[in-house]
Amino acid sequence: MSASSVETASRTAAAGRSLFPASQSRVERLRDSFHQIRKFTNGLCAGLEPEDCVVQSMPDVSPTKWHLAHTTWFFETFILKKFVPGYRAEIPEYAYLFNSYYNAAGDMHRRDLRGLISRPTLSQAQRYRAWIDSHIDDLLSNPDENLLDEIEPILVLGFHHEQQHQELLITDIKHVLAQNPLYPVFRACRDGALRRPDAAARRPYQLIDFEQTLTEIGHNSDEFAYDNEGPRHQALVPAFSLATRPITNGEYIAFIEDNGYSRPEFWLSLGWTTVNEQRWDAPLYWTKRDGAWWNFTLSGLRPVDQSEPVTHVSYFEADAYANWTGARLPTEFEWERAALSCPIEGNFVETEVFHPVAVASAVSAGKPRKGLHQMFGDVWEWTRSAYSPYPGYRAAPGALGEYNGKFMCNQYVLRGGSCATSRTHIRRTYRNFFQPEKRWQFTGIRLARDLA
Ligand SMILES: [Fe+2]
Repeated sequence: MSASSVETASRTAAAGRSLFPASQSRVERLRDSFHQIRKFTNGLCAGLEPEDCVVQSMPDVSPTKWHLAHTTWFFETFILKKFVPGYRAEIPEYAYLFNSYYNAAGDMHRRDLRGLISRPTLSQAQRYRAWIDSHIDDLLSNPDENLLDEIEPILVLGFHHEQQHQELLITDIKHVLAQNPLYPVFRACRDGALRRPDAAARRPYQLIDFEQTLTEIGHNSDEFAYDNEGPRHQALVPAFSLATRPITNGEYIAFIEDNGYSRPEFWLSLGWTTVNEQRWDAPLYWTKRDGAWWNFTLSGLRPVDQSEPVTHVSYFEADAYANWTGARLPTEFEWERAALSCPIEGNFVETEVFHPVAVASAVSAGKPRKGLHQMFGDVWEWTRSAYSPYPGYRAAPGALGEYNGKFMCNQYVLRGGSCATSRTHIRRTYRNFFQPEKRWQFTGIRLARDLA
């Protein structure tokens, strides 16, 4: 797939349903969405060599080839095997290799050993994708309305699942390429795309006050949402203030230079243990050369740009930074309440920059907008909220009930999406979650404060 067709697919996907003619039927919309999302995944791999696609650089990272096959397994397992009478898998063993964590769907290969699987080859994995795509096409060629009612919610879940894996594919290949002393380029950066000087980024962030309120939290519309975004419920959010933008690299360097990484008073106990065990002294992908910080990006190794949002920091680092400033991280309810007034726009994967950019890029009119900046896109924002069920939440029975609910332990919620998230994937109520020591995702920091 060419870069221009990636762009076309992403623009179309970004526009969502509105691009589809009103005359399109439900099944035509589903088929078009399916092909757009599948093509976008293929397009992300366009510049990769087969050797790139098989490496697993740490247990959290999956090889590109595995992502291509696993997203395909999802449609085969939950749609074709269930709804196509007499469907027979071409290679039944793929069910074991490409199941990720769905115990109700059968046994699975070990996650940390995915990089040892040389067969199927990349081209065989791509053939598997084409095979399943053609079967989904057949299924959608002339379905009756009852069948469509049954498969539509699972198909749409499959679209969003594949978008999640598009983001993982990007963050995983970044970790893979970062192990290589040659610093390979995933996608050459367009001139100036990473550098957008803007006064707002260099000015100190401001704090915006929010009054105490009883607010509605959680998803409440006919559009798709994951089960963990509900049930919608009321929450009391005491008065707080929120920073107008994420913390920049320049601000984070001040924390480093104040010996933030060697002062236990700022760190959670588990964070302090982790910092010392892992010997962290800067965000992931940073390296110091001749006294200056450099940063490995998907466009290669670059000097750290002080105006960009800091990224690839763990919850522990975000929390320690906040403590160092005398502030704190927001709760997810504070974040969601503040986001109500923010348009869902910003630096998403569709820009194909694959890196957070300074605040100017989030402003379409060329001038810094008053109020909150970069709530969406660029970097996922750590919140201080543990990832736990909303009141009344119950995971659905069966394999698809394992999608979110069983991970509600020992993780923190992140909000807003990143430069690797699809615009059509994110929502104000979206709850991402990772363990506090993880930092290979595009994770960043926005500060909050209590208001007396
Ligand atoms: Fe998955």
